[in-house]
Amino acid sequence: MKILPEKTAEMSRLAQKIREHNEKAVGETGQPLTACVKTFGCQMNEHDSEKLKGMLKQMGYDIVPDYSITNFTLIPDVIVFNTCCVRENAEDKIFGQLGAVKGAKRIKPELIVAVCGCMTEQEWVVERIKKSYRHVDIVMGTGNTYRLPEYMAARIFDRRRMIGAEPEDSLPEGVPVSRDEKFKAYVTVMYGCDNFCSYCIVPYVRGRERSRLPDDIVKEVKELADGGTKEVMLLGQNVNSYGKGAEGDGTDFAGLIRRICRETDIKRIRFMTSHPKDLSPELIRAIAEEPKVCRQLHLPVQSGSTPELKRMNRKYTREQYLELVRKVYEAVPDITLSTDIMIGFPGETEEEFEDTLSLLEEVRFDAAFTFIYSKRQGTPAAARPDQVPSDVVNRRFARLTETQNRIGREKNEALVGKTLEVLVEGPSKTNAMRLTGRTEGNKIVNFEADAGCDGGSSKKLPEAGNIVRVKITGAETWSLEGVYYEE
Ligand code: 5AD
Ligand code: SF4
Repeated sequence: MKILPEKTAEMSRLAQKIREHNEKAVGETGQPLTACVKTFGCQMNEHDSEKLKGMLKQMGYDIVPDYSITNFTLIPDVIVFNTCCVRENAEDKIFGQLGAVKGAKRIKPELIVAVCGCMTEQEWVVERIKKSYRHVDIVMGTGNTYRLPEYMAARIFDRRRMIGAEPEDSLPEGVPVSRDEKFKAYVTVMYGCDNFCSYCIVPYVRGRERSRLPDDIVKEVKELADGGTKEVMLLGQNVNSYGKGAEGDGTDFAGLIRRICRETDIKRIRFMTSHPKDLSPELIRAIAEEPKVCRQLHLPVQSGSTPELKRMNRKYTREQYLELVRKVYEAVPDITLSTDIMIGFPGETEEEFEDTLSLLEEVRFDAAFTFIYSKRQGTPAAARPDQVPSDVVNRRFARLTETQNRIGREKNEALVGKTLEVLVEGPSKTNAMRLTGRTEGNKIVNFEADAGCDGGSSKKLPEAGNIVRVKITGAETWSLEGVYYEE
């Protein structure tokens, strides 16, 4: 299952060949070649895009953050759409943007357009692109994006359109990565999902669970830490199933985290996503005992109603979830908890919805990502006749967000007066005199230096990449305000 080193080496060779070809083109025009990667969806996709950018750089392209479809000089040489299909509105938006780049191709015919990610794992999408989006040159799935240099070479040297390339269940080891952030990094620990929640398309488009080898992961984190990264986010659709496949050496997720703590100099470790049915006592213990593991947990509940959870195929009850949260709070009292909630799952009654609201009040999550159920073709829930009318769903959604916003703000207000450790990320977006960073609980803090007794002349802000202590002075729904005192 693992990608053999010679396969990645072959891709590097092709990337080099494209680079040489591109350098010649640059020599003729003096204009650097550019590529833009448009990312939709979750952290997994964001990280896959970092790999796409790594490969494009290897091929000699400068990465640009955005593109124009009308201004020739702002149309790049390559546009890659890394897509998401978890909800229908994401798909609609992507088809819209994909249609719009047709105009850009009319202005710049040599533009290469590629589409990859979850959407292209659906046959109907590939068919639609083939027929109605003829300006698209390359279509890849989720498992074969590491072959981008091969498809680009076919397009550039043989003028071939590469659509619907063979699906592949491989682990892309050794692919070059161009990281978006300097001090934080994503590290994938496993791919795919075997849970088949009845509303979710992910298991169909991301395939079966596959874990990377612990040695490969530890090596990657070690190299990141040695290169100045302070925090890693370990990624997987269901990280608690890490190492359950045949290819591992018996290390489970808690074991993997302990190894990373022991064998690397990384300062902070986070992970997502955890499925409540698989969250082990060993992992809770690791969060409580290991200082490098952030006291933060994302634990999607989806619904607070046992019958609705059963229809969702979540494999736990309301009571089991609450018991799990009780254990987590008991082991790590100051943990920051977040969740995902879905409203309007087929057949959702008023009583079931009230159960979700009451669970929010009982658990008091720091944050909840709230979603309106979206019907996904091919999932069991899509075939249900009892879809909830949209006016009912919208009313429930408004009550849900109102409740959670209040709780989130209250939880943030409770932090005012406390001093928290913050990883400094850089100047705040709204005020360059202030800095922004993240607490151990992954909350955003915007802060300034204490004015001092001379009223400000001694103001000194810490550099990005440092972990500093910040006194919390104010709270918003989504962020905190603070002051840094030089120590
Ligand atoms: N409709 C709406 N939300 C969904 N999610 C997954 N599938 C769907 C769907 N069909 C949400 C779940 C999951 C999050 C990543 O996306 O809440 O936890
Ligand atoms: Fe989808 Fe459920 Fe897997 Fe999460 S655990 S990716 S919601 S099937």
